[in-house]
Amino acid sequence: MEARHSVRKYDPKAVIPKGELNEILRLAATAPSSWNLQHWRFLVVTDPEVKQKLLPIAYNQQQVVDAYATIIILGDLEANKTAALVYDAAVASGKVTQQVRDTLVGQVEAAYKNNPQLAHDEAIRNSSYAAMQLMLAAKAKGYDTCPMGGYDRDKLIETLNIPSRYLPTLMLTLGKASVAAHPTDRLGLDQLVIENSF
Ligand SMILES: Cc1cc2nc3c(=O)[nH]c(=O)nc-3n(C[C@H](O)[C@H](O)[C@H](O)COP(=O)(O)O)c2cc1C
Repeated sequence: MEARHSVRKYDPKAVIPKGELNEILRLAATAPSSWNLQHWRFLVVTDPEVKQKLLPIAYNQQQVVDAYATIIILGDLEANKTAALVYDAAVASGKVTQQVRDTLVGQVEAAYKNNPQLAHDEAIRNSSYAAMQLMLAAKAKGYDTCPMGGYDRDKLIETLNIPSRYLPTLMLTLGKASVAAHPTDRLGLDQLVIENSF
């Protein structure tokens, strides 16, 4: 965690082998999520032409071109649709009973029914855990990342044909640093921690 820093200058020649990239994504997807609905999807851009299209969308932040991959973290706004998939598999592998499955799938449907705010909050909250894990997994494997909120979301959706089911929650560069990140500090616990109540 302390080795990770937001890197903005990447070696444009550095390649991440497919196996390693997949392992980073697999580890990211071990993140926790509410009802295990796994609200994250990873739109992985490695094609130089597509990365070039991302440059103006990311307000000319060159890292989206130079990093080996620019990954769009998507949050699933219809994660309730995954519940049956997840819990049918859990029944099949003997992890839960049919009765538990039915209860949980029913809970998910009730929670999501007519509640776009919940769907929206859950998409952002849960996909962010996967994004954080992705950054830590990448660092553990010797790669660097930068989380980015600086992009035009509407243009991104249009350019990459992102379906309305998925909300882009973060853009993330992944590659090999050519210049070290600039150091940052953190607030002290005295400013961060509230004990028991305000
Ligand atoms: C949600 C979010 C959005 C960010 N957007 C950008 C960005 O658009 N461009 C950029 O260079 N850094 C961006 N950052 C990186 C932050 O500037 C960085 O995390 C912060 O300064 C702390 O530095 P560190 O990550 O090296 O510890 C973003 C970080 C987060 C979490």
